[in-house]
Amino acid sequence: MSNELYNNEVAFELQTKKIDENRQGETLTAQRPASVISIGKKYYIESYGCAMNFSDSEVVASILANAGFDATTDHNDADLVLINTCAIRDNAEQRVRHRLQHLSSVKKRKKGALIGILGCMAERLKEKLLVEEKLIDIVAGPDAYRTLPGLVEEAGTGQKAVNVLLSRDETYAEINPVRLNSNGISAFISITRGCDNMCSFCVVPHTRGRERSRDAHSIIKEAQDLYNMGYREVTLLGQNVDSYRYTEDPKLSGKKLVDAKYEDHVVNFAELLIMVAEVAPDLRVRFSTSHPKDMSDDVLHAMAKYHNICKYVHLPVQSGNTRILELMNRTYTREWYLDRIAAVRRIVPEAAISTDIIAGFCTETEEEHQDTLSLLDEVKFELAYMYMYNERPGTTAAKKLTDDVTDDVKKRRLAEIIELHRGHTLLRNKENLGKTYEILLEGTSSKSDEQLYGRNSQNKVIIVPKGNLELGTYAYAKVIDCTSGTLIGEVVSGL
Ligand code: SAM
Ligand code: SF4
Ligand code: F3S
Repeated sequence: MSNELYNNEVAFELQTKKIDENRQGETLTAQRPASVISIGKKYYIESYGCAMNFSDSEVVASILANAGFDATTDHNDADLVLINTCAIRDNAEQRVRHRLQHLSSVKKRKKGALIGILGCMAERLKEKLLVEEKLIDIVAGPDAYRTLPGLVEEAGTGQKAVNVLLSRDETYAEINPVRLNSNGISAFISITRGCDNMCSFCVVPHTRGRERSRDAHSIIKEAQDLYNMGYREVTLLGQNVDSYRYTEDPKLSGKKLVDAKYEDHVVNFAELLIMVAEVAPDLRVRFSTSHPKDMSDDVLHAMAKYHNICKYVHLPVQSGNTRILELMNRTYTREWYLDRIAAVRRIVPEAAISTDIIAGFCTETEEEHQDTLSLLDEVKFELAYMYMYNERPGTTAAKKLTDDVTDDVKKRRLAEIIELHRGHTLLRNKENLGKTYEILLEGTSSKSDEQLYGRNSQNKVIIVPKGNLELGTYAYAKVIDCTSGTLIGEVVSGL
């Protein structure tokens, strides 16, 4: 059994860049616009958690750059050190606390340096953080980033500066996130904020507040701007993208969406996907996360119809047992979930499907755990993020259910889930052997400068010889070899 299993979470990530909450400690740099005068202060930002948090850090960087801050990648050089935090499981919080201790050394080295906590731990722990962690000067929740320059000023006078107010309408719609640390090829676009689903195990609705959909015009503009800058892939982000619903104000004449195609002035997710796909045929469009209760056939038909909407669906199941799903308040049954999988296979047969699983949720019996294994066996996911249940304070599960599956049992169940899934990924990769895929070249292989990697529409990484290929362009790769983690390809002239 691998050591990994003794961690509280395991993301058995096969391929590629993660779009999940296991990313940690990545820094971001952003240059100040030439038109903004420097205030002579530098900020450093480090991000943890899911793609939404990373996308938020880009918004924060933009707000600070416009307020005259300069960016640095060296925290020792910073006047303002920001940590964008995740609260999804306890170990995510512990990771941030350790990092905080380390980063706080900047205060000893640089007089007047400030430390700020952003993101999902802010709301949950505001008082505790300020009292217990005396090192922190600023706490700003996910909806309070516009006030950061003011909070920095306030903290500069020696006061603790806190804004954790959650908003019903903040979407940072018109803020142009900075992308300077990206590969210049793929970018995230947030389309919703918050979550209304209230899954009983989950802190997100508590840390990020009610769900809001961002103005469709601003989303399309952002996609268009990215395309014009040379980007070739956008990922539309939301905790439940399928519930995206933007209602246009009909009084705003001249601002009608796409030739009044959407007569009711309402844009749903399938319509938004199409609008973004129509920005340019060679701009790939991905999205995450889909919710089984809301994923509509319209979305799947849009995927089937548009070559550039990627054939990949992340559809978290959490458990294969209907009683557990009900306790989780997921509002679907095992049968419903399997019906959605059947719909994907029917409408977009070439699609890859990934999922999230929680092992050992409250009162889960051995038989119910077996239902999760049998569901995995039935679907054979290409990719899965697998976790042991971790009770989070304030959630419905913490208040109303008993976390009665012991840690040992949770670990064993998680190990069984991982073991089974590992076999499926190898099987799925073997199915790709001999097939040719269009790939978008995204980077140089970590193993050799002579190899590039790209992803196919199904989100799988394929390594190819570099030859004369250029990053940011498309190529065709025929899969000639694979492990459970990688596909090896040779470049061919067409499909
Ligand atoms: N909105 C997405 C959805 O509904 O599927 C996922 C959001 S959450 C950031 C990502 C994953 O973390 C969840 O799908 C779930 O598997 C896992 N997760 C959330 N809360 C958890 C908890 N208390 N213990 C263990 N895993 C948890
Ligand atoms: Fe959490 Fe459920 Fe919302 Fe996903 S849908 S963010 S798991 S409450
Ligand atoms: Fe994401 Fe973690 Fe918050 S997973 S939404 S950063 S709690």
